[in-house]
Amino acid sequence: MAKVTFLPDNKECNSPSNVTLLEVAKRNNIPHVAACGGEGNCTTCRLLILEGIDNCSEETEKEKALIEKAHTTEGFRLACQTSISGDITARRLVLDSDDIKEMSFDRQGESKKIAILFSDIRGFTPFSEKLTPYDVVFILNRYFKRMVKVIEQNHGRVDNYIGDGMVAIFGINDEQNPAEYAVKAALEMRDEMDDMKPYLKTMYGKDFDIGVGVHWGSAVVGNIGAGESKRFTAIGDSMNFASRVESANKEFKSRVLISDEVFQEVKNNVVIKDYMRTMVKGIDGRVTLHEVEQIHLSEEIEKLESVQKIEDGINWRKCEKVESFESEPQQVFRINRENILVVKVGNKFHAINEKCPHMNLTMKGGKIDQKTGTILCAWHNTTFCYKTGEVKEWIKVSKPAKFLMKTLMKSNKQADGALDVEPMDIESYPTQVIDGYVWVGAK
Ligand code: FES
Repeated sequence: MAKVTFLPDNKECNSPSNVTLLEVAKRNNIPHVAACGGEGNCTTCRLLILEGIDNCSEETEKEKALIEKAHTTEGFRLACQTSISGDITARRLVLDSDDIKEMSFDRQGESKKIAILFSDIRGFTPFSEKLTPYDVVFILNRYFKRMVKVIEQNHGRVDNYIGDGMVAIFGINDEQNPAEYAVKAALEMRDEMDDMKPYLKTMYGKDFDIGVGVHWGSAVVGNIGAGESKRFTAIGDSMNFASRVESANKEFKSRVLISDEVFQEVKNNVVIKDYMRTMVKGIDGRVTLHEVEQIHLSEEIEKLESVQKIEDGINWRKCEKVESFESEPQQVFRINRENILVVKVGNKFHAINEKCPHMNLTMKGGKIDQKTGTILCAWHNTTFCYKTGEVKEWIKVSKPAKFLMKTLMKSNKQADGALDVEPMDIESYPTQVIDGYVWVGAK
């Protein structure tokens, strides 16, 4: 039987021809690392063959690829992929006592398919250059608070913050449909951003935007780091690829892009706006990226069929029971990315956009005047026809009030011009009642 002499232990062990050197080390209690569990997915079990390299088995395809990628010098073999037919002397990569402590045959991490989401702020430098660092921290924290909530509500985990960027991972604890949830989170982050923009405009006179990229691929998930800062995270080429998907938003002037791998996972659930072929660093040839507009979770699709129908090009959505408007005559529903305000006037229902076109502030709670058929935006006394959305009176404030408002708003460029905005109609939508429920139609 062939013999292997392991250095630096200088221990001689019998090595049957059909047994790998990793297994020989294990059987003889020789400390060794095999971070992937001995499956030929890493190079941590490598050995330097000092004598008898010709007695080693042929390199497997996996081994060839890994050794080439790791740029090791000649003479290295992977213990988990190599067996011997004659004697050899091999040195393990154990250099000092710290190495011995870390030695383990156990898997260090686990290879998993996960969804990875990268987000970045577009235009943050011009937005923040005139602000104090305290303002920047305040805005970033406000932004992250909203975005992290979205990630967590969709069963994801924030893995890292990189400046104003963020990395989140989905599926590390075997949650259901991680790719679907990651795409849903990306779209909701886009919507959160839209929701935050009027606030930024009002407070700072300018805003910024978001870019999100999602990829679905393998990564090694495990504890990384040492001491107090050790944390459960994911490592792998897929993480880098996800960041490149996100960066491609700049090139395509898009906001939410997903890789083709994600698309294959969610294609029955998404509405795609566009797709593009592009070169991505580190990948040969072009890759396809998809700009996604909408997603319905698999678990929601069945339910959706009972609350949605398309008639004559109008996308009707079931809202609430007619009786619910008795106690709450003004209700807001999220339909196709719009917040729609449904108001009950007499026995009829009318639907208009929830945001006043003047400064994007909410119309909910506005006084209804049945005689004139109008709803009032109380912020700056503007009235609209609640049936057609036509503007009836625009910023009807007295001269002294106008003067006071102008003075108060002077410190803010955007708000300063707010009283001079041209009149705009508000969007209106058709409604109907079917089986005791109010339905609203949108394009
Ligand atoms: S926000 Fe409605 S009138 Fe100003």
